[in-house]
Amino acid sequence: MLLAAGVGITPVLGLARALRTRGSDYRVLYTGRTREHMAFTRELEAAHPDRVTVVESARGARIRPAEVVTTVPRDGVLYVCGPMGLLKDVRQAWQQDGRSPTNLRFETFGTSGSLPAQPYRVEVPRHGVTVEVPVGTSMLDALQASGVDLMYDCLRGECGLCRVRVLEADGTIDHRDVFLSSRQRDEGRQMCGCVSRVAGAKVTIDC
Ligand code: FES
Repeated sequence: MLLAAGVGITPVLGLARALRTRGSDYRVLYTGRTREHMAFTRELEAAHPDRVTVVESARGARIRPAEVVTTVPRDGVLYVCGPMGLLKDVRQAWQQDGRSPTNLRFETFGTSGSLPAQPYRVEVPRHGVTVEVPVGTSMLDALQASGVDLMYDCLRGECGLCRVRVLEADGTIDHRDVFLSSRQRDEGRQMCGCVSRVAGAKVTIDC
């Protein structure tokens, strides 16, 4: 199952083409406001007859992640590309249905988070460092610039390598990654410094 929302259709086009070439069994679920606002709809439907479902939100149709998951065979793979909110909901539904994490693939593109970005301070007692994290700069970058070395890889909130331990947060952690589970987010004891921010004055971390 290929699930795309908005510009998330871009990688899905190539995936669908590859699956067709291989003769695989696949379906494409594509959501956006209306057909008129959605790119490649006609091309997609023409290239993959009977395999594409278009869901127009402005006409009252909705993607329901739990229902989408149940349409995927137990050994099937779900590939998602879309906004972070959809991705989180799908991920949760996938976990709740007891599916294998390796059978859920996703692609992320820059997230604006759920709270507006604002400057905040990050304090690292272990290194005796306090740095400002301005809007437009990640915590990871701010720490690196002040000499605190952190591991990282994807820089997109996917791998979790840049995770830091949160000792105290004076504000709300705006988790913008797709690595931490819902439980880990709720606990608020860690955050991914490459994308996540704090909506507040300060966060104290260990790394
Ligand atoms: S570097 Fe991969 S989640 Fe931050």
